[in-house]
Amino acid sequence: MSIDDLRKIARRRLPRVIYDYLEGGAEDEACLAANRRAFEKHRLLPRYLVDITQRDQSTTVLGQRFASPFGIAPTGMIAMVRPRADVLLAEAAARADVPFVISGASTASIEEIARIAPKSWYQHYPCRDAGMTSDLLRRVADAGLQTLVVTVDVPLHSKRERNIRSGWVRPYKPTLAVVLEASRHPGWVVDYLRTGLPFMENYRKYAPPDTSARDLTSFYAGQVPAAHSWAAIEKIRREWSGSLVLKGILHPDDASQALRCGVDGVIVSNHGGRQLDRATAPIDALPRIVDAVGDRLTVMLDSGIRRGADIATALCLGARFVFVGRAPAYGVAAGGVDGAMKALSILRNEVDLVCGQIGCPSATALGPAFIDRYDGQSVARGTRACIAHAHPIETLRA
Ligand code: FNR
Repeated sequence: MSIDDLRKIARRRLPRVIYDYLEGGAEDEACLAANRRAFEKHRLLPRYLVDITQRDQSTTVLGQRFASPFGIAPTGMIAMVRPRADVLLAEAAARADVPFVISGASTASIEEIARIAPKSWYQHYPCRDAGMTSDLLRRVADAGLQTLVVTVDVPLHSKRERNIRSGWVRPYKPTLAVVLEASRHPGWVVDYLRTGLPFMENYRKYAPPDTSARDLTSFYAGQVPAAHSWAAIEKIRREWSGSLVLKGILHPDDASQALRCGVDGVIVSNHGGRQLDRATAPIDALPRIVDAVGDRLTVMLDSGIRRGADIATALCLGARFVFVGRAPAYGVAAGGVDGAMKALSILRNEVDLVCGQIGCPSATALGPAFIDRYDGQSVARGTRACIAHAHPIETLRA
């Protein structure tokens, strides 16, 4: 019924070490919890007696039209939850006509995904070897993909204590305790024995011949993260002629700087709580970023979305488009391509329901007039009049 139901099915099917990799955040996981709380403190302000018989949530973002205002965020090493999970997610995205963002740590190649889902985007982590970055960008362009996403919120690897405790540490050699726990999830074990540790396909051609899947993850870790700088972004801008998006922006000044560098869009994100545990929640950072850059930059958002109402809230607060990471990943872990489709259709149906219920038949018309906040505080330009009008005390006096 809900994304949380898919999460529970995924948790039952996956060994703890893999479920924790998917579910976990950094350190105390304060950021992970705060991402959800930040959505929950918002309240929508419905308008009634509006004709909502024809509802439409299709959206154009960075020159591409999609059937819904959300896409699938990049998730590295996702084939650990199910063999070829990247391909299954791409298939689901293509069928649902939403974008799939290929992870820089993908276990399927750019070329294969582009054939399955030609409207995919590619997410890149800049490499220490600049030649490798250039070659990857060329491959993305040759595969016909239009949008490059550069993730900027991994200047260093974070401390994911849950992962370390449950045994997800390179070079990925399971301890006896991990093997014993995994044996309680025979469906996953049979799949894993059949396919083994997945290869990070995009890096295979740069590693020495016959590099094993395990050694390839170490090779990749020797390349990423590279030193981060605005100069590196400017260089990518010169090399990449398609749409360029920075993922992981939280500060309005960084969004303004992105604009000056010729970037086309930003994804306001804290990496789903997996990087800086005290990072602000993207939904809280969003209005300041929208104020700073207005329509000059395509502002998108991810982190913490589990409901259609979260998507509507982000769009009301100024995001043009959003991404979901764990939601479709729970789906693909729970039920392969059908599970991923299920996750997307749950979210699509919930967006439709919310739009209908608040009297906004077109998702592109969502805006600050439809939002209130639990504490009644104005969070975006233009909301104040709306909030004053709807405040319960004012209503009682009236
Ligand atoms: C991620 N994320 C991520 N981001 C990125 O830019 N490159 C990557 O390779 C990965 N890998 C990855 C693996 C897994 C298992 C997860 C859960 C997440 C972050 C992802 O793109 C997105 O920002 C968050 O998942 C959004 O938060 P929610 O929707 O999961 O709450």
